[in-house]
Amino acid sequence: MPLLSPKARIALKLFTPQRRRPDPRHTLPEADRNLAGRTVVFTGGTDGIGRVAVGMLHAMGAHVVVLGRSAEKGAVLVRELTARGGPGSVRFEACDLASLTSVRDCADRILASCDRIDALVNCAGVNAMTDRPSADGFQMNWAVNYLAPVLLTRLLLDRLRASAPARIVNLSTDTLYLERLDLDAIEGTPGLPAKDSYAASKLALEMASIDLARELDGSGVTVNLQHPGYIRSNLLRNLRGAERVMQGVMRVMASPTEVGADRIVRQVASSKLDGVTGILIAEDDPRPFHGDAQDPATRERIRRLTDGLLAPWLGEDETLRGLAVAGKLAG
Ligand SMILES: NC(=O)c1ccc[n+]([C@@H]2O[C@H](COP(=O)([O-])OP(=O)(O)OC[C@H]3O[C@@H](n4cnc5c(N)ncnc54)[C@H](OP(=O)(O)O)[C@@H]3O)[C@@H](O)[C@H]2O)c1
Repeated sequence: MPLLSPKARIALKLFTPQRRRPDPRHTLPEADRNLAGRTVVFTGGTDGIGRVAVGMLHAMGAHVVVLGRSAEKGAVLVRELTARGGPGSVRFEACDLASLTSVRDCADRILASCDRIDALVNCAGVNAMTDRPSADGFQMNWAVNYLAPVLLTRLLLDRLRASAPARIVNLSTDTLYLERLDLDAIEGTPGLPAKDSYAASKLALEMASIDLARELDGSGVTVNLQHPGYIRSNLLRNLRGAERVMQGVMRVMASPTEVGADRIVRQVASSKLDGVTGILIAEDDPRPFHGDAQDPATRERIRRLTDGLLAPWLGEDETLRGLAVAGKLAG
């Protein structure tokens, strides 16, 4: 029996100094640093870890399409990177992940403007403390961290397949924080998880990523998860009171933003990951999935629930395909 529960271990880690520099064991070789001709679609590139990662991908020559809810932040980012020069290019697309209609409209624009998608990075995330629901009435963390990336991925999937080899990178967290995903409660709650909703949303994304990796096996499109570690960013901007003081301490202990960004960029560009699919890299090394995510029956329940929730935003073809996939994975 371990001395500390996973929750206590994670809490303790938040107050322990984290890596100051990217792990030199994984420095990308020069050949992997050339992303000329590759298109990377990137959510959450307007702030925090994602913003730094987008700068790195741009410097490596990628064409980066940044999806974000703030046109102002998007314009500043595009101006900054363009002024920096270099081989890459960058474009901003308005996309509020708290609205599934906005996600669908954005996906339509991307499909109309990008002949290929070599990588999709679902990096955006929130740790919302508010009761304010998403535009579609879902709990905010659930909407932004789970439903939106699942929908976006589904809508861009054919273009990713056609661009194979291609990669999907989903940002996770230390999901062990949650002992188990309370599916009974989730299925019974109209707006979906109220308790531990941040970790629950990321655990659900872990499950969806495992299934998608299996569905796409052999297609040349890989699906992997990244827990970036404890990184200085604006993720905890919504904390209040004593928690805000805690956040101050955590910021000092956390790794610099570049460390997290480097981890994401490696997952996009490292040739060591060619053909590798269905894994979780926690910080710098692979880690087993959460026990619940390893359970096919739990995954099936969440998949069926999700397919139903997303049906209004998926075309008929996609909805039918979802049903076919459910059958294939269950069989
Ligand atoms: N930092 C950590 O220690 C840590 C640990 C584990 C996992 N993560 C994960 O790493 C990822 C990046 O987080 P971060 O730490 O860099 O946080 P951050 O500094 O708060 O950045 C979050 C990004 O997500 C975007 N975003 C949030 N809500 C959105 C919405 N409704 N529509 C569109 N974009 C939205 C933000 O856009 P705006 O610029 O408009 O705010 C921003 O670009 C997240 O998935 C997070 O869960 C972070």
